[in-house]
Amino acid sequence: MMSNDTKTTDANISDDRFRGKTIIITGAGGNFGRCGCLYFARRGANVAAMDNNESALNETLLEVADAVGSDANIRAYPCDVTDPASVEGTVETIYVDFGRRIDMLWNNAGYQGQIRPTLEYDPSDFARVMNINVTGMFVVLQSVARRMASQRDDKSGGVRNGCVSHPFSIVNTASVAALRGTPAMVAYASSKAAILAMTVSTAKDLAPHGIRVNAISPALIGPGVLWTRQNELHASSGSPYFSSDPEQVAKDKIGG
Ligand SMILES: NC(=O)c1ccc[n+]([C@@H]2O[C@H](COP(=O)([O-])OP(=O)(O)OC[C@H]3O[C@@H](n4cnc5c(N)ncnc54)[C@H](O)[C@@H]3O)[C@@H](O)[C@H]2O)c1
Repeated sequence: MMSNDTKTTDANISDDRFRGKTIIITGAGGNFGRCGCLYFARRGANVAAMDNNESALNETLLEVADAVGSDANIRAYPCDVTDPASVEGTVETIYVDFGRRIDMLWNNAGYQGQIRPTLEYDPSDFARVMNINVTGMFVVLQSVARRMASQRDDKSGGVRNGCVSHPFSIVNTASVAALRGTPAMVAYASSKAAILAMTVSTAKDLAPHGIRVNAISPALIGPGVLWTRQNELHASSGSPYFSSDPEQVAKDKIGG
């Protein structure tokens, strides 16, 4: 994905609403996460960039410094979301580093697993996908939400004059794979469906604490390296739902 975020794409939305807010972005070394870091740093937010790939994280920091300059307030936090102790320690460090305030979380780290039909899918890879995409996401969400809940000024459980106010926001990255049941991606589709259920359930639990929880379900984004790589993987999966020719896979996906 190109990081070509421009102000013209969202000219009608106030850029100022994120100024001074603190956001944690997981998967910040990856395609979406890096774009998110750029987006929020450009708008004056404090960005805590988390990823278990330290070199990718450093590239994100360089790209943000290049694009935004010394105004950017972004720091890198190497962390594996499958290690609860590391997540808890990292979130506490971020909380302290940014003045005991976390306003937003983009819970975005993910692993797509093998591209293999169900009969051949390796159960240990299934477990790995679930551990990163579901358990890892939950552990980050819980750790951040605990701090958000503790930040509320009033102790009324978020209910004021009968209305619930929601100053904090969590967004989980799911996928259209959860809705479509993409063939040869059983672990990934299952994990993303679990994320949708996690989102609805945690949204209810956290609403009284002033925390909104939503999910986004992107489709595969192309053209570009992601689109090409995914079509190659689908073509070589052995699934009868995909042509063995990556170019034909691409044409079939867009109805060509
Ligand atoms: N790219 C797409 O077309 C697409 C479509 C739908 C949903 N998504 C989802 O969007 C999110 C981001 O996708 P992307 O395209 O940027 O992928 P990406 O592979 O470029 O980035 C994912 C990032 O997550 C990090 N990560 C993986 N395991 C981790 C762990 N255990 N701890 C910490 N970080 C870890 C990786 O190091 C990587 O930097 C993922 O959740 C993905 O499933 C992507």
